[in-house]
Amino acid sequence: MMDQAANLRKLASRSRGTRPQPELVEVAKPAKATRFIAVASGKGGVGKTNFAINLGILFAREGKRVIVMDADMGLANVNVILGVIPKFNLYHVIKGQKRLSEIIIDTPQGIRIIAGASGFSKLANLTEEERLRFVDSMMELGEADIVIIDTGAGVSRNVLSFVLPADEAIIVTTPEPTAITDAYGIIKAISAETGQVTIKLVVNRVSSIHEGKQVAERVINIAGQFLNVRVENLGMVFQDEAVSESVMKQRPFVIAAPKSRATECVDHIAKRLLGMQITPKSRGFGGFIKNFLSVYKED
Ligand SMILES: Nc1ncnc2c1ncn2[C@@H]1O[C@H](COP(=O)(O)OP(=O)(O)OP(=O)(O)O)[C@@H](O)[C@H]1O
Ligand SMILES: [Mg+2]
Repeated sequence: MMDQAANLRKLASRSRGTRPQPELVEVAKPAKATRFIAVASGKGGVGKTNFAINLGILFAREGKRVIVMDADMGLANVNVILGVIPKFNLYHVIKGQKRLSEIIIDTPQGIRIIAGASGFSKLANLTEEERLRFVDSMMELGEADIVIIDTGAGVSRNVLSFVLPADEAIIVTTPEPTAITDAYGIIKAISAETGQVTIKLVVNRVSSIHEGKQVAERVINIAGQFLNVRVENLGMVFQDEAVSESVMKQRPFVIAAPKSRATECVDHIAKRLLGMQITPKSRGFGGFIKNFLSVYKED
């Protein structure tokens, strides 16, 4: 079986000609099933970042080594919600000024974060060298059990390049018709490109269980009917003032409001996700890198 190093070397030499890449060999680690979970949405502002961070904290409480990576190249704000001021972010990695391992920040909440390159919207326009350097750096994420990737809204190539190689894509929507339509839009975009990432749905800001179920059913049925795509219902999160209050306090709600309905809901979802076996279908770390490269190659 081809190991990750061989895989990466092959991919690297394919895109750079036949020049050997000794530095890539150095960072290669034994294959390990790091689980990549991308959080995405069609419409903006539906609660992705808050969900991603709080989910990560709950995973960490279960003993998982978690990295939350802010892949929103437009309005990066994972660090803002955590009240952390990063010195360096993904921009410095892309520009080759830092390695990913040097910019990973430990937080008091038990997760580690990678701050986003705010205002750097042209990830797809990286030079070949920058792109390979970035992918090479991503090998360092293999230290984590779970990497949660918080993406920007919409179906841009930037977003898809993080969603498509992941093991799971959690699509967040709210009950608003516009959010539902846009959730369908991103599911369509994902399904048009790959049949491999498992698509899951979270309905955020619901006012009742009935509403949450209805919205989920609608999205799942439409995706099944028109796209022939299976979307798994992960659950719902209630509309809860504790969320906006926690954003104001820059303290994640699972910590600031442990007894809130929002915390209870995300806890339920975290447990459901952890209860899930990582089947051989999970492509793990090497798979993520390989697919990350192939997504770019399609540009
Ligand atoms: N369950 C909830 N209950 C109440 N308010 C919520 C809930 N979830 C999110 N919000 C509100 O929505 C705002 C936006 O949330 P968040 O930043 O997580 O969304 P996003 O999808 O990451 O946005 P963007 O698309 O801009 O990245 C929060 O600041 C909060 O006020
Ligand atoms: Mg966000």
